Amino acid sequence: MSSVNLAVLLVVGLLLVTAKQSMQMSLRNPTSEIETSNCKIGFLPLGLVLTSENSEKALLDSGLFEPDSKNPYVDFVGRKFHVGTLNSTPIVYVKTGTQTVNVATAVQTLLLKFRISGIIYFGNAGSLDENILVPGDVVVPEAVAFTGVWEWEEFRAQNKGKLVFGNYNYPVNGENLLGTAAYENITLYSPSEEPKEVFWLPIPLLKEAATEELTKDLKFKECHSGRCLPRTSKVVFGLKASTSDFYVKNKAYGDFLLEKFNASTADSASAAVALTSLSNGKRFVVIQGISNIVGVESSNPEIGYIASHNAFLVATKFINSIRTPRLACE
Ligand SMILES: *[C@@H]1O[C@H](CO)[C@@H](O)[C@H](O)[C@H]1NC(C)=O
Ligand SMILES: *[C@@H]1O[C@H](CO)[C@@H](O)[C@H](O)[C@H]1NC(C)=O
Repeated sequence: MSSVNLAVLLVVGLLLVTAKQSMQMSLRNPTSEIETSNCKIGFLPLGLVLTSENSEKALLDSGLFEPDSKNPYVDFVGRKFHVGTLNSTPIVYVKTGTQTVNVATAVQTLLLKFRISGIIYFGNAGSLDENILVPGDVVVPEAVAFTGVWEWEEFRAQNKGKLVFGNYNYPVNGENLLGTAAYENITLYSPSEEPKEVFWLPIPLLKEAATEELTKDLKFKECHSGRCLPRTSKVVFGLKASTSDFYVKNKAYGDFLLEKFNASTADSASAAVALTSLSNGKRFVVIQGISNIVGVESSNPEIGYIASHNAFLVATKFINSIRTPRLACE
């Protein structure tokens, strides 16, 4: 075959591939394409994950989410996966429900059913360190651990766990039949490496987005329904976070998490998002709005909503800065 014939064949082949790809893309994502000569530019959607009513309300109240006009949502595993754009960036968002199993189930389903370029999670968390974090602040942690995975040791066991219940006897310390609890590692599966035991799940900072520059102009909400925060909120990058299936209101336990693990927040979702994303080799970011200080009774019932709103604002900044373009004729 002459080289001219070969070239013609190649061009025809490419055209066929291009036509097929643009057709697939049009079907998948009708609103996010711009025509340039023979190629189409589109954006892979980001997955936006949230757990609670408050978070979804913050998203919908913003007016920034535009549902897809043809297929606004798809139902899987009992959840609605909402397809649309946020500030013109394609997203699929899902309300997972609370506790880690629900969160992981919904995130895994999102990743299996949609072609997603990355996961953005936002939700509320409690502050374990009121010198750094107060309600309204937003945290973008660099690592998160499951701190609800214990080996609960026998009374007077030789191997003592980190959490020694007797240290918390009231009014004086002493022996306690509950003994001690040791914090366990978790197996991290990943597509590129052998499974390994880890305590901290890293949250690799997204280099396009994880800068203070990105969020410095944000105007956070300070009041809702006539109730206001004591001071202006801020975004803090790079702390450690803890996740468990128990809701931590107990100050002594909160102080323990801060002292032993240097964890600045407690929630019941972030580590599940991290583990599921890492297992799928997907990039992700965790954004926590501080809704309470662990061990301090809140007098302001509106804080939960303000925290969700502030976290959502930061999530929006991330979403609009990490758009992933794709060209159908590549
Ligand atoms: C947990 O994993 C860390 C490494 O991430 C290791 O240093 C530590 O010894 C492990 N702990 C247990 C109890 O296996
Ligand atoms: C604990 O976290 C703070 C940030 O909150 C950091 O500055 C400090 O170095 C950490 N301490 C340890 C012992 O890791």
